[in-house]
Amino acid sequence: MDNQWNILEKECMKCEKCNLHSTRKNVVIERGNRQAKILFIGEGPGAREDESGIAFVGQAGKLLDLALGSMGIYEKDIYICNIIKCRPPNNANPTDEQAKACMPYLKKQIELVNPLVIVLLGSVALKRMINSNLTITKNRGNWMEYEGIKVLPTFHPAALLRDEKKKIVFWKDINKAWKSITD
Ligand code: URA
Repeated sequence: MDNQWNILEKECMKCEKCNLHSTRKNVVIERGNRQAKILFIGEGPGAREDESGIAFVGQAGKLLDLALGSMGIYEKDIYICNIIKCRPPNNANPTDEQAKACMPYLKKQIELVNPLVIVLLGSVALKRMINSNLTITKNRGNWMEYEGIKVLPTFHPAALLRDEKKKIVFWKDINKAWKSITD
């Protein structure tokens, strides 16, 4: 297992499969516990993640950590990664080409972590992992499936920074995903 992680890390670090390699400071693979039962998927690194090489360490990540902490869920309990591993300039949405080039790495991460549940954070993750026709407002909180693994989509934490009213359903969705593996 360690060896497979080492291979994956090395491949990601030297990846030049899309144009983002030329502007990135760091490749952002993950944060958290590779043995976690719950895996979160976001969109892609922002400025703070690009600087540090660690996923969800900026404002959105702090808000996510705060919500998780209030439920007694800590970094040791989760694994978190993104649809793409390199920051798009100006935080643009990942293009088709970028998301497709990066998908094999994400699939390998899911395979190695082998979680009981996946939480999709926001529209980009929902569309890329399940179906591009789905919208996050209509489909958040509904159980879905990805290759035999239970999936629950919810809002991206950055959306809560723009609209406080989303906080309560976000909290409920994550609690629902967590309860499904701990109850
Ligand atoms: N937003 C994301 O989707 N991922 C990160 O790692 C940080 C912010």
